[in-house]
Amino acid sequence: MRNYYIAGNWKMHKTRSEAAELAKALVAQLKDGKHKYLVAPTFTSLETVGAIVKGSNILLGAQNCAPEEQGAHTGEVSVLQLKDLGVQAVILGHSERRHIYKEDDEFINKKVKLALKHGLEVILCVGELLEEREAGRAEAVCETQTVKGLAGVAAGDLGRITIAYEPVWAIGTGKTATPEDADAIHAYIRKVVGKLYGADAAQKIIIQYGGSVKPENAAQLMAKENIDGALVGGAALKADTFVPIAKFG
Ligand code: PGA
Repeated sequence: MRNYYIAGNWKMHKTRSEAAELAKALVAQLKDGKHKYLVAPTFTSLETVGAIVKGSNILLGAQNCAPEEQGAHTGEVSVLQLKDLGVQAVILGHSERRHIYKEDDEFINKKVKLALKHGLEVILCVGELLEEREAGRAEAVCETQTVKGLAGVAAGDLGRITIAYEPVWAIGTGKTATPEDADAIHAYIRKVVGKLYGADAAQKIIIQYGGSVKPENAAQLMAKENIDGALVGGAALKADTFVPIAKFG
């Protein structure tokens, strides 16, 4: 039995005081929650939110990190600096990083390995564009992103990896993949992990769904055999919408 894992990606939203207000509400309202939880505020709110979620059942996540530990990387944030703030996990390969900031699989893979090396958990995002889905390439795209994203990751580190399947056409658009369509891709990704790491690892890996998850569709999605949680964007910005997702069912 896999544990459900629900993560909130706050993207480039909220000042520190707004982030603090949401974090306090979540700590209070999720303290009896049964699942694994994470919030990923923007870099500038990590310290503030970290102090609030410390000791709670909510992990502190970052939305990205640099591919190197330190050096001449203007505008980037290092995994060492994230650890210094108490960050426990990092979201990598989000479609906004892939498509707006042109991060490719090799670049993302470097970050995955670096984050693991420094003891962080990773949420590795994969997902196809609308034209790729329409061309029948959804599985192939997710396979490539999974295989290349995990290249060189030791089997012993796989327990710290969560995969988030986020069809790009469903992110922030209000269009959700049907639970059946999402489950089919999740099953496929599980098979890909099985080919790389064996059947036991494939059974154990947590695969979140992301893309317009809301209180109204969370339970149907998570009822599917291969959907083990959610990576939530828009609906993660308010306790009123995130808490019912986090306590779905
Ligand atoms: P959304 O974003 O829930 O607003 O669609 C999900 C994500 O990008 O992680």
